[in-house]
Amino acid sequence: MTRIGIHDIAMATTKYRLDLPLLAEAQGIDPEKYRIGIGQDAMSFPAADEDVVTLAAAAAQPIIERHGVEGIRTVLLATETGIDQSKAAAVYVHALLGLPHSARAVELKQACYSGTAALQMAAGLIARDPRQRVLVIATDVAKYDLDSSGESTQGAAAVAMLVSADPAIAVLEGPSGVHTNDVMDFWRPNYRVTPLVDGKYSVRAYLRAAEGAWLDYRALGGAAFEDFAAHCYHSPFTKMTAKAHKHLIGVSGGQATPAEAEAALADTAVYNRAIGNSYTASLYLGLLSLLDQRDDLAGELVGMLSYGSGAVAEFFALRVVEGYREHLRTERTRAQITRREPLDVAHYRELHELRQPSDGGDHAVPVDTAGPFRLAEYSGHQRVYRSR
Ligand code: CAA
Repeated sequence: MTRIGIHDIAMATTKYRLDLPLLAEAQGIDPEKYRIGIGQDAMSFPAADEDVVTLAAAAAQPIIERHGVEGIRTVLLATETGIDQSKAAAVYVHALLGLPHSARAVELKQACYSGTAALQMAAGLIARDPRQRVLVIATDVAKYDLDSSGESTQGAAAVAMLVSADPAIAVLEGPSGVHTNDVMDFWRPNYRVTPLVDGKYSVRAYLRAAEGAWLDYRALGGAAFEDFAAHCYHSPFTKMTAKAHKHLIGVSGGQATPAEAEAALADTAVYNRAIGNSYTASLYLGLLSLLDQRDDLAGELVGMLSYGSGAVAEFFALRVVEGYREHLRTERTRAQITRREPLDVAHYRELHELRQPSDGGDHAVPVDTAGPFRLAEYSGHQRVYRSR
């Protein structure tokens, strides 16, 4: 059977960050609620000329520089921050990256889960024709209402993966356990720029779906919990990943305290703690963090739990490939995070309330991003992207 998986992986995040102690101070809240209670230090926040397209193209650019475009037949872009109701954001990214016309481009949506759907669909395409490679990009800007309980769990980032046969980083192994259940824990009606969320219920919905996916995985003959060297979870905030890990340990007949579960996931949490929720990208930022922190994973199994509100969850396994460390971009990734400029609360609130003009006129967007691509103007109801 063809070995299929992640051949290359890279990320991008925004120009700005807001440190959560500043938000806590402005809200009159104990900053420890964010640092310890939800497990977050800061959140990435986009400049006016950054969005899911510019982040996605910036994440994928180093992959294209390293591997070229040859053999890429498909771009699958996963997001729940759609910029258009009809045209796929993947088509704009395809153009910015100079991909061949012979590569199809599609956008996928199911809340934070669709990056995993994209990865599985990529594997299916490659199983049909192992000569092709698929560019999978998970990209999101998580934005809640100002002064809402979700505000501290915002964030933004993109992760791009080149999926291929005989991958250099990690191989998809064994079955996928899935769980779909129609619940209203988090959703965004077409007329809103921010989601509606039932926060406490969403935590319970996540745990229930994670359990369902894990039990389905086991029923299909998947590996036992103790066979995994590490676990990565969808991360709306890092404390949630510890809750999920503790829950799955319990379902598997084991026991862990919240502190033990949190310590077990510390290597996966480094980037998400600093970036915040990046919806579809967060699970894969967890993987990137794990691979960058640990140098002993060659040949080991990593459990991956993907969750998207609404709700769909999937548990699947990756087998890390010998020599994986040579293919990582650890310094580049760390630089993307450390170079972000700190926002004060007034500037953050101003950026938060920016809206796309709806008059169809010409509106130039001043250059602000530090990334390679920017949203340059709105013109005739179109978004116009350029290289910076
Ligand atoms: N020091 C230390 N810890 C403190 C503290 C302090 N001073 N004050 C509070 N805490 C702790 C609380 O005890 C609590 O811990 P536990 O969860 O372990 O009980 C934690 O901090 C959070 O406190 P609250 O529950 O009071 O927080 P809240 O009600 O203000 O909001 C939230 C929490 C509901 C998750 C909110 O952030 C939210 O709505 N977030 C958006 C929705 C979300 O992310 N849901 C996650 C599952 S859905 C999903 O995963 C999809 C997705 O990406 C959105």
